[in-house]
Amino acid sequence: MLTLNIIGAGKLGRTLARLWSERGVFRIGSICNRSLASAAEATAFIGAGTASADIPSMGPADCWLVAVADDAIEATAAALAAHFQSHCAHQTATHSAPVVFHCSGALPASALSACSSAALASAHPVHSFAEPLRSLDDLPGSVVALEGDATARALLNNAFTAVDCTCITLSPEQKVLYHTGSVMACNYLTVLMDLSLQTFAAAGIDGRTARKLLAPIVMQTAKNNFDLGPQKALTGPLARGDIRTVTRQLEALSALAGAEQDPAHPSLAMVYRTLGDAGLPLARQTGLDATSAQKLHILFNEQKP
Ligand SMILES: NC(=O)c1ccc[n+]([C@@H]2O[C@H](COP(=O)([O-])OP(=O)(O)OC[C@H]3O[C@@H](n4cnc5c(N)ncnc54)[C@H](OP(=O)(O)O)[C@@H]3O)[C@@H](O)[C@H]2O)c1
Repeated sequence: MLTLNIIGAGKLGRTLARLWSERGVFRIGSICNRSLASAAEATAFIGAGTASADIPSMGPADCWLVAVADDAIEATAAALAAHFQSHCAHQTATHSAPVVFHCSGALPASALSACSSAALASAHPVHSFAEPLRSLDDLPGSVVALEGDATARALLNNAFTAVDCTCITLSPEQKVLYHTGSVMACNYLTVLMDLSLQTFAAAGIDGRTARKLLAPIVMQTAKNNFDLGPQKALTGPLARGDIRTVTRQLEALSALAGAEQDPAHPSLAMVYRTLGDAGLPLARQTGLDATSAQKLHILFNEQKP
């Protein structure tokens, strides 16, 4: 069995390591986090591996996962390259070059180019690792975007397929916009949920009631988007061209900003305007007439009172 070492066994790293260990895909070798205590916590979660205090004390491995924060990947790769040069960590069971990969959605494999003697790849699971215990159950079925060296991609394709994920291949040039698309639909959906709850709170509706009220309609909207596509899923005042309703909602948000003097509230009106204006081409496709679209465009771009 091939050995996997991990630098950065946080939310993603420890989840993948535990799944791979339990399915017999990799033998987990050394684990290095910023602190030894955190690495020990990761090995306890994984149920395998040895905590290392730093990169120079990590053992040899066939495969290295660099799962630190995106901004630390290049510097970590440079430290790993130095380790490869000065120790036998470069040795692999198959006597071929080790595979070094990261899981960033935005960065290409070349972020690891300091490890020039290794086969480099990136493998981005399209999954939110918010809570590792939940991800153990929820990751299977996800798509993983692979990019980089062909040998490394083949190895990672086998590893992710073994935990019931499906792999696609991307070019280095595709990665930034590919990841941005995922941020828009996933991370910004969470931001919108937060802004929605703030708006409910301003109406005096508590968070628990608001979430109960929102859950079915948000789930239904997500399902409609996937089943029918955005053009048919869009409903509401924008799609209907209810200009007076949009005007009243904008006035309410603007009044809120003025009354509360809370720096968070102006962003509610700003997001409402920006998303409303961005949604007009979609609303036109759903049947909104050109005159109403133009009036709404003017309304969304009026200066705040
Ligand atoms: N979270 C997601 O939903 C998700 C989804 C897809 C891809 N990814 C990608 O996965 C990677 C890791 O993300 P994450 O969410 O798992 O991050 P995370 O939970 O913050 O974990 C990062 C880990 O890296 C360690 N670390 C940071 N700098 C280090 C260094 N210089 N040397 C050694 N260890 C270091 C941290 O150690 P300490 O514990 O000691 O601080 C921590 O354990 C990122 O590239 C991210 O883009 C994440």
